[in-house]
Amino acid sequence: MKIKTESSTKKKTQMLCGFVLEKTNKVLGLGKYDAKTTSAINQSVRDNEGKLGRISIVPVPGKKPAQRILLAGIGKKEDLSKDTIRGVSGKIALKARELKLKEFSIITPPSFVSEQTLAVTQIIEGAKMALYKFDKFKAEKADESPDLTVIVSKSNKISKAIKTAQAVADGAIFTKNVGNMPPNECTPTTMANFAKTISKKNKMKCTVISKPELKKRGFGGITAVGQGSKNEPKLIIMEHNRGPRNEKPIVLVGKAVTFDTGGISLKPGANMDEMKFDKCGGCTVLGIMKAVSELRLPINVIGIVPSVENMPDGESYRPGDIIKLYSGKTAEILNTDAEGRLILADAMAYGEKHYSPKAIIDFATLTGACIIALGTNVAGMVSNNEKLADKIRDASKRTTEEVWELPLNQDFMDQIKSEVADMKNIGIGRAAGTITAAAFLRNAIKDTPWTHLDIAGVAWNQPATKEKSYNPKGATGFGVRLILDYLQNL
Ligand code: BES
Ligand code: MN
Ligand code: ZN
Repeated sequence: MKIKTESSTKKKTQMLCGFVLEKTNKVLGLGKYDAKTTSAINQSVRDNEGKLGRISIVPVPGKKPAQRILLAGIGKKEDLSKDTIRGVSGKIALKARELKLKEFSIITPPSFVSEQTLAVTQIIEGAKMALYKFDKFKAEKADESPDLTVIVSKSNKISKAIKTAQAVADGAIFTKNVGNMPPNECTPTTMANFAKTISKKNKMKCTVISKPELKKRGFGGITAVGQGSKNEPKLIIMEHNRGPRNEKPIVLVGKAVTFDTGGISLKPGANMDEMKFDKCGGCTVLGIMKAVSELRLPINVIGIVPSVENMPDGESYRPGDIIKLYSGKTAEILNTDAEGRLILADAMAYGEKHYSPKAIIDFATLTGACIIALGTNVAGMVSNNEKLADKIRDASKRTTEEVWELPLNQDFMDQIKSEVADMKNIGIGRAAGTITAAAFLRNAIKDTPWTHLDIAGVAWNQPATKEKSYNPKGATGFGVRLILDYLQNL
């Protein structure tokens, strides 16, 4: 799908789309039409009522610049959120594809609905993400995405917002697409190849550390979890260095378990297929790095993705094992299904040691407990630094990717102490499973500002996931928009 801009509604288009507020009687920004068309539009506006997400189409007879007009309700003015236009724009785009159009145009609503750059951003993100479909393995492919013209008064600020929105949406789509890959087609090696491809395209340095080297260099967590699979573990490192030479980077770490069977502590069979999404944290890091490098953001960002497959096997690690992590600390394994924290701990310790970063942010489908605590629409957040957590909360408010912070008190640090090693890899019973997992991660680093995002509930569409036009079934790409916003507002 191509994106263009136009400053007038008078250009030829197969479908001109405008937003309608509830309790008003006009299409925002539409401009003037002849008497007959105007009365048809007015009738349609009355029928539509501006109800959120409701779509009405008015055919325009005669030789008019627009073949039809689409009215899209956006609800009451006082209920508008920073997600409204994104969601409705996605619905419009799906309608345009359903009508098999080649192109369509959306009028940016006036500034009293949303700041213009924000509205344009939401229009583009919504349309692009909604039209993404995972059809790689189907003979019948989705119809080609129609091109979009955004109607808006042009300025440098708007052109920049458009470029950014496209890269952000492409990043999120990339994350969804890799996240949706089946585990037989996406191994740690595949993850590394994806990283190499995006790095090569946008001139990032990309290093992949393989099994023998991981073992030799003391990555005990990654090595242990990966040893039960014939698909060998990889540690992937991408470096985007476009900031000042001496500026400390932001390190992003993402869990990429390409399939999580639980290992010797085998998971029950029901819905085990969903554990192909256990690589989504790593996919988030890939999507962010893709966009950061495409946009040439003038900052230093390092993406680190530990990738393994967690399988039961004669060579698997076992409950009872004591392993030595990259940090030098030892961990007693009491459940091989608590594997994410082991590979993340290695990656975080590596990130801190080699880059002395300004901040570490990690993403992981880490605990089922997070779904119990916060459901499927809010990510769990745990941090050792309130300033960093505040910045991520601010980005969350702007992007509507929701987070909620959980406390990490000394009590929780105590709960993962082991009798026989420095730590154990599970807490006490099931109490606060999300926090005891985070407590384990906290031990991997010294005092670098760090924020952990548990995306177990939000990384893919689950039964209780709120329906959004721009989040079709499967992986959601959660975190890409959030952290790109954070990085752009550093
Ligand atoms: N990948 C899972 C967490 C998960 C489960 C995410 C279901 C999304 C949906 C993780 O590796 C795991 O298995 N965690 C265990 C930890 C437990 C053994 C302490 C869990 O949540 O049950
Ligand atoms: Mn697990
Ligand atoms: Zn897992």
